[in-house]
Amino acid sequence: MKSHTPHPTAPGPKGNRFYGRMVRTSRRDPLSFMTMLAREYGDVCSFRVGFERVFFVNHPDYVKDVLVNHYDNFLKGNGKQRAKRFLGEGLLLSEGDLHRRQRRLAQPGFHHQRIAGYASEMAAASERCSARWRDGEELDIWPEMLRLTLGIVGKTLFSADVESKDDEVGQAMKAATHQYRAFKLPFAKLLERMPLPHIRRFHRGKERLRRIVLEIIEERRRDGRDHGDLLSMLLLSEEKGVGAPPMMPEQVWDEALTIFIAGYDTTATALMWTWFLLSQHPQAEAKLHAELDEVLEDGRPAVFEDLRRLPYTERVLAEAMRIYPPTWRLVRRAVRDFAVGEHLLPAGSLVVVCQYAMHRDPRYFPDPEHFDPERFTPEAKAARPQFSYFPFGGGPRRRIGEGFAQMEGVLLLATLARRWRLRLAPGHPVEVFPEHLLRSKHGMLMTLEKR
Ligand code: HEM
Repeated sequence: MKSHTPHPTAPGPKGNRFYGRMVRTSRRDPLSFMTMLAREYGDVCSFRVGFERVFFVNHPDYVKDVLVNHYDNFLKGNGKQRAKRFLGEGLLLSEGDLHRRQRRLAQPGFHHQRIAGYASEMAAASERCSARWRDGEELDIWPEMLRLTLGIVGKTLFSADVESKDDEVGQAMKAATHQYRAFKLPFAKLLERMPLPHIRRFHRGKERLRRIVLEIIEERRRDGRDHGDLLSMLLLSEEKGVGAPPMMPEQVWDEALTIFIAGYDTTATALMWTWFLLSQHPQAEAKLHAELDEVLEDGRPAVFEDLRRLPYTERVLAEAMRIYPPTWRLVRRAVRDFAVGEHLLPAGSLVVVCQYAMHRDPRYFPDPEHFDPERFTPEAKAARPQFSYFPFGGGPRRRIGEGFAQMEGVLLLATLARRWRLRLAPGHPVEVFPEHLLRSKHGMLMTLEKR
């Protein structure tokens, strides 16, 4: 924060005619809208949506102020109360002391030694995926990546096999997550009580999931052994006395479900866009193949020890998450008045930081639409401000899934791209579709070519 007196406003689109058009554009095409605001109005701008005053913060230092330096002045934004009806008070949605306590309990499950232990499951899952694929086959790579990452989170978290389609957990997850989009609607509370078939499916899915997870938890408590998975970690950490009272089964449930949800479609989204970008950029693809052919010389799956020998694979993923960040924006609400540069953000206002717009800022990423993994060499990274790139957010809410996701992304991409080249199916439309994650509106139909 700066010491001089800040202005209580920030530049931004004003006027009724413009306002109407702006609201329509922001709803129809929020990605272009945010990118346009950043270009036209600079590092901080403000606009109204209904009765809300929204501040869009688009400078790396200010993003750091919001997410890291003054994080305790910002609570999670609008959708939180609605999402809580689904996810409960897990890490993703809890705040303050509860969040700090839960984070302390879950953290050991994401310790790098633990994560290293998950690598063999990631290798095995990518082997199974590769064995299912047929040369010349056309398939939608989006559900395929979901199945893969859901299976991995299920195995590493619950030691449960959720990969097979007819598995109970997988079905319950699908039914429950299917309804997630509806929570964004303002009348969601009312909708939830209506006897509509999809609402009933949601409640049934959620209930089934609750029951399954509670049974697993109870079984684990009786068994008392460390299975080396995240669930054991959540349960064991309470006994080892990390300065917090034991979690109630309900809390463990919220936590397990949160990590489950947060941990599979994010990585699947990142991988889907990576396959698409590689199919459009043969030079980068050739370079990736050269690295993989050398490191995985006999076509074996990539394992933990390979990670440090796969720098280009890592850069490909990082660049894909720059262009298509799975989490494309974060919304917070200011608790107290807050100064960002010369501007005052009044208490209660909504604050948005947008990975999609920042990652396209030509000040940090010249020719931003161009896919170039070399932007992520150690030198290039060191030359940029820290929060010009933040696919995993920042501050105390960051990182817990980052090591897991990065290792998973690299190992899956390496194993599959060593054996397969994916081509976008001719004529398949690709349209970016920003939901809570950055989706592809029509899925991602691709042709598998054996290498
Ligand atoms: C490419 C993959 C991933 C991306 C882009 C991603 C992105 C993010 C972002 C941006 C946040 C911060 C949300 C906020 O501040 O409001 C977050 C939080 C979180 N992520 Fe991920 N994530 C990924 C993978 C994972 C995985 C694999 C797991 C677990 C296995 C995971 C678990 C979590 C959890 C539990 C939180 C809440 C942390 C907290 O609030 O303390 N994520 N993630």
